[in-house]
Amino acid sequence: MMKIPQACLLAASLILAAQTCAADEDTRIKVDLPAMMKTHMLHSMRDHLLAVHEIQVALAKGAFDKASDIAENRIGMSSLESHNAAHMAPFMPEGMQNIGTEMHHAASRFAMTASEGDLPRSLAALSKVTEQCVACHMTYRVN
Ligand code: HEC
Repeated sequence: MMKIPQACLLAASLILAAQTCAADEDTRIKVDLPAMMKTHMLHSMRDHLLAVHEIQVALAKGAFDKASDIAENRIGMSSLESHNAAHMAPFMPEGMQNIGTEMHHAASRFAMTASEGDLPRSLAALSKVTEQCVACHMTYRVN
């Protein structure tokens, strides 16, 4: 059996401890939104997650046009009005607005890529959308 050097064990436990501390402490930037706007935003968020799920189901069935439509209409540039984006933006820090804008663009780019019917390229384009979900969630909170 391989013997693990003491120093490695120590380093590993320090890394674990640091990660535990990070998880216990919320260092995200708090964004204050008027109550109604917050409710509206979280409602949109839940629909974004549902849309990503429906896109994956559609892709798995080879229903590329359906995946494309869902992305464009629910997350892409065509969805901005239904999310009240213009109204919401002034309440968000610039960095948050930029991530949001990039998500809408990435969803519209995914919609175009998916309509070409290539699964690996579609998945890569979809990951550019979820990359923005992750980026924003790592940085900002409203609660
Ligand atoms: C521009 C920033 C931003 C982007 C982009 C973003 N979110 Fe969010 N989302 C948030 C914030 C802020 C919260 C509230 C988190 C908190 O306060 O703890 C949230 C909350 C959520 C929630 C929880 C909703 C609830 O009922 O509490 C879900 C689900 C969610 N987001 C899904 C997504 C998905 C899926 C995407 C990408 C397709 C996405 N979000 C993109 C900022 C963003």
